Amino acid sequence: MVSTRFLLAGLAAMVSAAPTTPCKPKPQTSPTLPKLGGSSELPAPAANLTLKKIAIGHGIQNYTCGAAEGNSSAAGAVAVLYDATSLFPGTGRTALSQGAWDSLPSTLLRQQALPLNKLSGTEYGADPAKPFPQPTDDLRLSGLPVVKFLGYHYFDSNNVPMFDVTTAGLKASVTKRINLAAPNGADKGILNTGAVDWLELGDSGKGLSQGLSIVYRVVTAGGAPQPCSVAGVGLQSVPYTTYYWFYG
Ligand SMILES: *[C@@H]1O[C@H](CO)[C@@H](O)[C@H](O)[C@H]1NC(C)=O
Ligand SMILES: *[C@@H]1O[C@H](CO)[C@@H](O)[C@H](O)[C@H]1NC(C)=O
Ligand SMILES: *[C@@H]1O[C@H](CO)[C@@H](O)[C@H](O)[C@H]1NC(C)=O
Repeated sequence: MVSTRFLLAGLAAMVSAAPTTPCKPKPQTSPTLPKLGGSSELPAPAANLTLKKIAIGHGIQNYTCGAAEGNSSAAGAVAVLYDATSLFPGTGRTALSQGAWDSLPSTLLRQQALPLNKLSGTEYGADPAKPFPQPTDDLRLSGLPVVKFLGYHYFDSNNVPMFDVTTAGLKASVTKRINLAAPNGADKGILNTGAVDWLELGDSGKGLSQGLSIVYRVVTAGGAPQPCSVAGVGLQSVPYTTYYWFYG
């Protein structure tokens, strides 16, 4: 029988041979907003603000056409938000490679059906009475960690864009401050219409925000409208995905 003392002595030798600071975490990279790489960039958030969440959103951008020969006008959006914060490259155990992170909006747009209750008779429309499934599922994409449900993006009854970051207890009621065209290489979307602009969204001043004061929409995929001559008169809903960066 092998003596317990012998085993313990062996273990002790192994432990003492280990590096002296095996548990020291790697320095965390603090996520910085992606750049367009062109002549203009969205301004960085004020120094007194901190990054609260990075969401990946999946939903539809709405437009209306008044006449078949006219141009469409933006008419709101509906999207489900998932918590992508811990996937940011270099930040920890579930972090993605830079390439996988950069292409995640495109991957999501193309691999996953819209996470909205469908409006019957339309391809991408959402049910206006109840656009969001309840409860909303977490995101499960093959080869990626589970991305947890985070909240909802919609336009409120006064037509003001709202981000209800439900599971984090945060809200942002916003107004558009800056829009810049997405880079040339951006995913043009399911309808090949183009990627919507990158945005800086500021507080709407309506007193509805909670813990958030600025939101950026970056790395957009899809969401631009079809010409009215193609879409026809009325409402069109175009699938899109994007990152939303929330600061407060
Ligand atoms: C950050 O500073 C600005 C003034 O520069 C101030 O208006 C704002 O309330 C501050 N925000 C926070 C979250 O401290
Ligand atoms: C549609 O938009 C284009 C480009 O902005 C503009 O040149 C054209 O006059 C617009 N057409 C109508 C009918 O508003
Ligand atoms: C966008 O269109 C969908 C139909 O596809 C509708 O359910 C939703 O209420 C619309 N949202 C806004 C903000 O207009």
